[in-house]
Amino acid sequence: MQKTVLVTGACINTGVAIVEKFASEKWNVVFTGRDAEKVSAAEKAYRIKFPDVKIRGYVLGSLQKDGSVDENGIRELFNEMDRAGIFADCLVLNASDQGLGQEIFVTPLSDFARVIYTNVIWDYALSEAAALRMKNRGGGSIVFVNSNTAYRAIPNRIAYSASKGGQLGMMRALAFDLGKYNIRVNAVLPGMIRTDRWEKDPEWYKNVPSAFTPLGDVADGADIADGVWYFAAHARNTTGAELVIDGGNTIQLYPLIPEEKK
Ligand SMILES: NC(=O)c1ccc[n+]([C@@H]2O[C@H](COP(=O)([O-])OP(=O)(O)OC[C@H]3O[C@@H](n4cnc5c(N)ncnc54)[C@H](OP(=O)(O)O)[C@@H]3O)[C@@H](O)[C@H]2O)c1
Repeated sequence: MQKTVLVTGACINTGVAIVEKFASEKWNVVFTGRDAEKVSAAEKAYRIKFPDVKIRGYVLGSLQKDGSVDENGIRELFNEMDRAGIFADCLVLNASDQGLGQEIFVTPLSDFARVIYTNVIWDYALSEAAALRMKNRGGGSIVFVNSNTAYRAIPNRIAYSASKGGQLGMMRALAFDLGKYNIRVNAVLPGMIRTDRWEKDPEWYKNVPSAFTPLGDVADGADIADGVWYFAAHARNTTGAELVIDGGNTIQLYPLIPEEKK
């Protein structure tokens, strides 16, 4: 039977690459985004590109106005999928609050909390709802799109790093508790990925991250999608695992100094 993946935050960037990977492997796809217009435009584009699979976009908010997790939204999404007879064999937690520019001493605690609530608590609530269905259907898998910043710091991203570290702990604990239901839980840890944010980088900076990467290039969304696909479709006996996809950035003690800088 044709399988279905549910991917969060998949109107742009890495989420698109993940949707396209699964669709090209003939899985049906459900994806989410917070903005109705963007979801509808992405759904239209996916359906044109992949006419042989069912692709459906849902609008799903993450937080309520007071900053707490919108549990009702999650309940409604899964109830609607139940009513439509859609079962997510795999949940890919791709959406993430990047917590950019959160400088210490000036960032309000509420901004810090927003990142943790989105990347940890919201993802937990989604995992719980998906895992309940998987348990009733005899199994499934959950894949976190995490980050190598769970291990390595970058400037002004304390909440983001904390959230990604928290995600990894949660991933292992979920893997442990859900193993008995044949639900595998794993994480892909990207380093830098080419996204629409690259367009905003100054020209001189564009080759800098690759120059300091042992493999000489940063990842494309498709590289991350391949890792997610491995966990979803191949890793029958793997749970609680981390796959770093960062061109070797995490393994180096000191960054390579490019020839022209020596
Ligand atoms: N880009 C990188 O260099 C990099 C490096 C390491 C790890 N990662 C991880 O890889 C994943 C994908 O990265 P990306 O750069 O492609 O992501 P992105 O474009 O920054 O974000 C993906 C989607 O997440 C959703 N999102 C953002 N803030 C949200 C919030 N507060 N609540 C709910 N949804 C929210 C947005 O969807 P809507 O606005 O449509 O709702 C957005 O399109 C993320 O988990 C990221 O942490 C990225």
